[in-house]
Amino acid sequence: MRKNTKQLLLSFIFFPFLAASLDLITTTQFLTKDQVLVSTTGEFELGFFSPGRSNNWYIGICYRNIEVKTFVWVGNRDAPLRNSSGVLKISADNGDLVLVDDSGSLVWSANYSSGGNTVAELLDSGNLVLRLENDADPDNYLWQGFDHPTDTLLPGMKLGWDSKTGLNRYINSWKSEDDPSVGDYSFKLDIYGFPEVYLTHKQVIDYRSGPWNGIGFSGVPEMKPSTIVTFEFKMSPDEVYYSFQLNSKSVYSRLTVSYFGALQRFTWIPTSKIWNLFWKAPKDQCDDYKECGVYGICDPNMSPICKCMKGFVPKNLQAWNLRDGSDGCARLHDLDCKNDGFLTLNNMKLPDSATTFVDPAMNLDQCQQLCRSNCSCQAYSNSNITNGGSGCAIWASALYDMRQYTVAEGGQSFYARVAASDLEPVVLEHGNSSGKKRTLEIAGIAGGIGVLLVSLAIFFLLKKGISKTPKGNIFEHRVPRSQDFLMSSPATPSRKDYSKETAAEELELPLFDFDTIVAATKNFSQANKLGQGGFGSVYRGMLVEGQDIAVKRLSKSSGQGIEEFKNEVRLIARLQHRNLVRLLGCCIEMEEKMLVYEYMENKSLDSILFKKNKSALLDWPRRFNIICGVARGLLYLHQDSRFRIIHRDLKASNILLDKDMNPKISDFGMARIFGGDQTEANTRKVVGTYGYMAPEYAMDGLFSVKSDVFSFGVLVLEIVSGKKNRGFYQTNNHLNLLAYAWGLYREGRALELKDSDSGKSYSASEVMRCIQVGLLCVQEHAEDRPNMSTVVLMLSSETASMPQPKNPGFCLGRRPLETDSSSSKPDESCTVNQVTVTMVDGR
Ligand SMILES: *[C@@H]1O[C@H](CO)[C@@H](O)[C@H](O)[C@H]1NC(C)=O
Ligand SMILES: *[C@@H]1O[C@H](CO)[C@@H](O)[C@H](O)[C@H]1NC(C)=O
Ligand SMILES: *[C@@H]1O[C@H](CO)[C@@H](O)[C@H](O)[C@H]1NC(C)=O
Ligand SMILES: *[C@@H]1O[C@H](CO)[C@@H](O)[C@H](O)[C@H]1NC(C)=O
Ligand SMILES: *[C@@H]1O[C@H](CO)[C@@H](O)[C@H](O)[C@H]1NC(C)=O
Repeated sequence: MRKNTKQLLLSFIFFPFLAASLDLITTTQFLTKDQVLVSTTGEFELGFFSPGRSNNWYIGICYRNIEVKTFVWVGNRDAPLRNSSGVLKISADNGDLVLVDDSGSLVWSANYSSGGNTVAELLDSGNLVLRLENDADPDNYLWQGFDHPTDTLLPGMKLGWDSKTGLNRYINSWKSEDDPSVGDYSFKLDIYGFPEVYLTHKQVIDYRSGPWNGIGFSGVPEMKPSTIVTFEFKMSPDEVYYSFQLNSKSVYSRLTVSYFGALQRFTWIPTSKIWNLFWKAPKDQCDDYKECGVYGICDPNMSPICKCMKGFVPKNLQAWNLRDGSDGCARLHDLDCKNDGFLTLNNMKLPDSATTFVDPAMNLDQCQQLCRSNCSCQAYSNSNITNGGSGCAIWASALYDMRQYTVAEGGQSFYARVAASDLEPVVLEHGNSSGKKRTLEIAGIAGGIGVLLVSLAIFFLLKKGISKTPKGNIFEHRVPRSQDFLMSSPATPSRKDYSKETAAEELELPLFDFDTIVAATKNFSQANKLGQGGFGSVYRGMLVEGQDIAVKRLSKSSGQGIEEFKNEVRLIARLQHRNLVRLLGCCIEMEEKMLVYEYMENKSLDSILFKKNKSALLDWPRRFNIICGVARGLLYLHQDSRFRIIHRDLKASNILLDKDMNPKISDFGMARIFGGDQTEANTRKVVGTYGYMAPEYAMDGLFSVKSDVFSFGVLVLEIVSGKKNRGFYQTNNHLNLLAYAWGLYREGRALELKDSDSGKSYSASEVMRCIQVGLLCVQEHAEDRPNMSTVVLMLSSETASMPQPKNPGFCLGRRPLETDSSSSKPDESCTVNQVTVTMVDGR
């Protein structure tokens, strides 16, 4: 690049090599192509030039002592001369500095028109000025080139705003390497909020510097005072600007915005005879504006580079997994305004601060109080980090464009508001966690447990004389990190939370090491094996302290299921409900990927429900309890917080039963997070299990909460009848379970569906209610199916009014003898199953 620039600049046609030099332009002393205007001590010169292959001519300023002709300012950039025969002079009429062609027509002017005996002079700074010839004050400029920068910021030049002239000076790229006219890129100070400088491409932001923090721009931590350059940022009612000064006479430095959109600082050291690229931006992907979207943090040292702030999850998981973080992150828990906590983020580039409020007089404590007192405050920080920090900056809108720096790089701390529950140390059982008091209580208890566990861990380690890495010890991973207890105390290192490679640690999920799991499962012995699926195997295990666990070990051979694995970890680690199976931790070591769950004594529902000698264990009250529990678990998935989680593979084998036969939904490998407003989505890869899939999902790949509702309905009918929908075969008629139940219901014999194994003590109305709910859930048209909150209501209330179900989807086999009068499509009251080809079979 540098070589190219050098060659390019050498190719400029620049006449006045042997030209006569002027020191002033006046009404009588003109500048023509054979002359140059030279600055006081000869640093710069102004003359006519024609860049590269261009046929156009311009007046421009370049360094006089640098062989590589480098133009730092161009006058008539948008009004070129067609040939070299122009004249730059002072107009006798109004004292303006004007450029005319050889026919005498005006090509460009400085737009000064107040008359007087003016002269134009080139200062040693590279500033072309217009002043009165005999002004007592030589610094009283009527016009100056520094107020109209081209693509280069020179030492002493101000990038920014001046209230007296109303000008906001900025630099703007050339159009191409040999066309100095106004190009697409500019670097301009935004004086609003907490001022910072934006690099834009056709008015769209490409990169921002971050606000000035007293030392440098927040997004340019490498910007530190050096022996070569001193940076300055001034903020007063009269002006807001950025500028720099050189500390050495023998060095040159300039900041330019190139025609291809790079912001570059070059320095010239006489001995090297070349412009050295000293700094540039954007330097990597993380410098790209809003790379990780709202509440996303970009860290170029991680893969993927985007992560969500703690307490946030990706809005669009699918895109996020495809390394497109631009949709950003959403809060896991809404702010409650009064009892929120603050998350400390260190070594950061401050978020976009165009709307940030700044009070330089406040200290950090006052700043936090101010933030706490206003619900719209999202974050705060010191506005000036020199001398230990001072001033207050408050972000009252969503946080964008944050970047993580390393400790060595620098960056600064800021404090982001998050729901108190998101600062909790360990994910505790979902429940009533409203109120800070309670949160603190939990934190206190957990802290106590943590201390206990640490002691135990130390005891064990000492006793066993092992000097293993603490990572390997199960106890260690139960210990909450101390900073998590701190609701608002600043200056705690949170870098750790964000620097780890694995999703698991990012989620603060306990990490088990491989040896622990090997020991717990007796080296994955056959005797400990609970089951086998397409994903791998499930083993029972027991931890040293006696806790039973179930370990899902992904098969490493295929590589298949890894995405599902990550998906499940991300999802379930954040979900806590008594009807969802609890993830205790995970293990990611080399090729091994495992999930560790609480062990469910009674295994999966299908292992009891469909087994002749066992199904009697499930009497009607237990069955009803299972139906209601699954409904509540599903409701939680569908409607908790801002997310809709679609399970997509609800079935009897994914319902686990604890020792009291309480149901817990498991297996989130295929679940999808939906945005709050999103109700359905399309997938090309239909996953799920035959017999439980809704018609619109199986046939069109359209999934929504209503496709889960369909699966739930199938499950309800299976639980009531004790029969599998799939493979259901009723003598004399080839119906599936849905069609069979539908037939009985319409004939008023629904109670006959009830499994005789479920005992004689039952409430007929409860059974009837379950069958009706089941049939409502499996209706062919998704819009006819109730949502889970309605289902929960219908199940729990004797009096809730229930609509009459219409025909179910997928009634394989014969057409019914009579058609439901309410059905709009009487001839299609049963949909013929045509989906076997597109289906992925169950595992
Ligand atoms: C230079 O260009 C101007 C138009 O910009 C034209 O009027 C003039 O004749 C040209 N002079 C020469 C010497 O070609
Ligand atoms: C001078 O003023 C004219 C008309 O107001 C404007 O088009 C032109 O850009 C101005 N030139 C400069 C150098 O400011
Ligand atoms: C930052 O604080 C230092 C010392 O407290 C002060 O000298 C400097 O002017 C401040 N900078 C800004 C931009 O306010
Ligand atoms: C909270 O902050 C917003 C944004 O700065 C402001 O518009 C609003 O007036 C503030 N509310 C209160 C009660 O101070
Ligand atoms: C949560 O606890 C508060 C008081 O501690 C109580 O008023 C409230 O009803 C509880 N909410 C739930 C859902 O249990």
